[in-house]
Amino acid sequence: MPYDQHQQPVTAVQLNHTNVYATDQRLSAEFIAEVLGLKVSAPAGPFLPVDLGNGVTLDYYEKRDEPIQAQHYAFLVPDDQFDAMIARLDAIRVTYYADPRLTDAGRINHLFGGRGAYFTDPDGHVMEIITRPYIRR
Ligand SMILES: [Fe+2]
Repeated sequence: MPYDQHQQPVTAVQLNHTNVYATDQRLSAEFIAEVLGLKVSAPAGPFLPVDLGNGVTLDYYEKRDEPIQAQHYAFLVPDDQFDAMIARLDAIRVTYYADPRLTDAGRINHLFGGRGAYFTDPDGHVMEIITRPYIRR
């Protein structure tokens, strides 16, 4: 039986890690860690990890041979940390948006009874913070 990082048996499939491509892995890892209130871990081989606290790691990986295709990453965040994240975006002058098309600047949304916002990282990855998960039907 497989075990998680706390040596608990894994009883369901979970996302464990994914690579996030960056032109400057340090810049991008520090960026998301700062906004989310996390830390960048020690490099692991070519990867610069940011542990999200739920067992998922973003492994920032430098890719300079071709343009980086923008991806979308959504983070479910504690309600009581949302305002601080918005404040940190303001502090580093990163515009946030209420919508995924990035047209409604400086506003947040209230989908599913929570709060949410979108912003881009240094390589154009569209990051999303939400306090309530999407309700999918
Ligand atoms: Fe999303």
